[in-house]
Amino acid sequence: MKPAIETKDATRDAAVPRHVAVIMDGNRRWAKARLLPRLIGHQRGSDAVRRVVEAAADFGIEYLTLYAFSSENWKRPEDEIGDLMGLMRLYLRRDLNELHANGVRLRVIGDRGRLAGDIIDLIDEAESRTRDNRRMTVVLAISYGGQGEIVQAARALAAEVAAGRLRPEEIDESLFASRLETAGMPDPDLVIRTSGEKRLSNFLLWQAAYAEFVFVDTLWPDFGRDELELALREFRSRDRRFGARKD
Ligand code: IPE
Ligand code: IPE
Ligand code: MG
Repeated sequence: MKPAIETKDATRDAAVPRHVAVIMDGNRRWAKARLLPRLIGHQRGSDAVRRVVEAAADFGIEYLTLYAFSSENWKRPEDEIGDLMGLMRLYLRRDLNELHANGVRLRVIGDRGRLAGDIIDLIDEAESRTRDNRRMTVVLAISYGGQGEIVQAARALAAEVAAGRLRPEEIDESLFASRLETAGMPDPDLVIRTSGEKRLSNFLLWQAAYAEFVFVDTLWPDFGRDELELALREFRSRDRRFGARKD
């Protein structure tokens, strides 16, 4: 029998993924089903973030990447974008102390240039304050798109080639990965998407090359410790081969 999922105080279970990435989807449908305003769905979604961060740390996950706002989400109505940005401000202000006290390091990936100045300041402050925390890293993907990230990396490498500092033959997978925003982080072992949708929606396109996928019908505001544990169990039952022959 496989051992149970270990908690923070026990020896780390090798079957616990090092890096879990979550596409937190279904906030609006959650609100709609209850005839509540959309904002309430997003607020409940940010409550779910709190629960899942805590549970992930307890389960011994090292990296938790949360897709909070995609580069395509800028196409949403202005008032909804305003609500989502307001919730991000709140999260970065109010929850930072608790994250810091719990040994969480916060990192943000995505196109910061499109964010409001005060949010950029909050992100900078949160990242520098929590830089040395080691219990778990929470990566927030805000204004993030995998294709845009790959284009940025290609552009950076092209500039180095044009400047004569790099030869095209020197570009390989690991050099390319080092120019992505996730440089230095392990690739996600497990990608979870809530709300029944089965697509990546431009999330971690490069990094998810060998991730396991778990799609659940639960809407994000209803997702919590138990649902995360179920997804981890499902992950444990998978046979990862990475292209190698398995006898
Ligand atoms: C996820 O929930 C939150 C964001 C994408 C910002 P949605 O707002 O996409 O809710 P649904 O999927 O439309 O129900
Ligand atoms: C993906 O959800 C982005 C986030 C969860 C932040 P969307 O709701 O924006 O994706 P689509 O439009 O259903 O593909
Ligand atoms: Mg959605």
